Amino acid sequence: MRHVLEAQQFSRGLIEQLCRRSDELEKLFTDKDRDKLNLLKGRMMFTVFYEPSTRTRISFNAAAEHLGMRVVSTENAKEFSSAAKGETLEDTIQTLCQYRPDVIVLRHFETGAAAKAAAVSSVPILNAGDGTGQHPTQALLDIYTIKKELGKVDDLEVVIGGDLTHGRTARSLAYLLSKFKNNSLTFLSPKELKIGSDIKDYLSKHGVKFKETSDMETALKNADVVYWTRIQKERFDSSKLKQTFVIGKREMALMKDKAIVMHPLPRVDEISKEVDLDPRAAYFRQAGNGMFMRMALIEWVLQDNG
Ligand code: NCD
Repeated sequence: MRHVLEAQQFSRGLIEQLCRRSDELEKLFTDKDRDKLNLLKGRMMFTVFYEPSTRTRISFNAAAEHLGMRVVSTENAKEFSSAAKGETLEDTIQTLCQYRPDVIVLRHFETGAAAKAAAVSSVPILNAGDGTGQHPTQALLDIYTIKKELGKVDDLEVVIGGDLTHGRTARSLAYLLSKFKNNSLTFLSPKELKIGSDIKDYLSKHGVKFKETSDMETALKNADVVYWTRIQKERFDSSKLKQTFVIGKREMALMKDKAIVMHPLPRVDEISKEVDLDPRAAYFRQAGNGMFMRMALIEWVLQDNG
């Protein structure tokens, strides 16, 4: 069964295949014959979310509906499902499988939750974020965005900045960038919010160049991709932490003309609104790419399942 649990499960070949398919699916929206999109008619997807979400859940739901699927969705499973009564995730997933979904998209507050669910599920599980663990479908849409914006995913200087301790998107993206050639990663964060040693060990083992810094100016000057993230205030006591890394007009002026600024969103105050008008601000285009990549992913997990 094809589950999507962690970014490192994807090979370069498969990532490229999914990017090509995302392109094809996007083109179908401009075709006169929109019926061609009805590729998974009659199939059903459950989206089960124990943590807040705007983009991930809606883009997954929209992706499935555009493919002709039916969707059953719960947006606040932590409070409104039987989890509130003490049911285990494994029991919930086994029960949901009785209702004949073809695929389950799961967001959960616990690291490792998607793998736990996959161990008992009779249908593919798509990890839509597991605590401070991973967010593989986000990382795939991030790579797809880099490819679309810059035409390549090799030979890039990528700055990944913000809350790298708790941010799962940064972690998954670092894994995926290591699948490509000659990228150099700079992790920019306050010293309290550094990237985990599991990621650094993986990069070292795979011969990927990386450094850690809190020197924002130098990092921005050299970057081809600036991947910015918010402080994950809901995951730790951040009351003593000052927001030091903010991208505004001044910071944009330091960056190369062809660089892009990405962000998984939601943005809080780490990118000023004035940056939105700069053509190098790619984050809303990035969010749009998410739906096409999720269409490709749903199709891919279902292909193996007859
Ligand atoms: C991210 C997440 O949930 O990890 N959001 C998203 O899916 N685009 C990032 C975040 O919450 O900061």
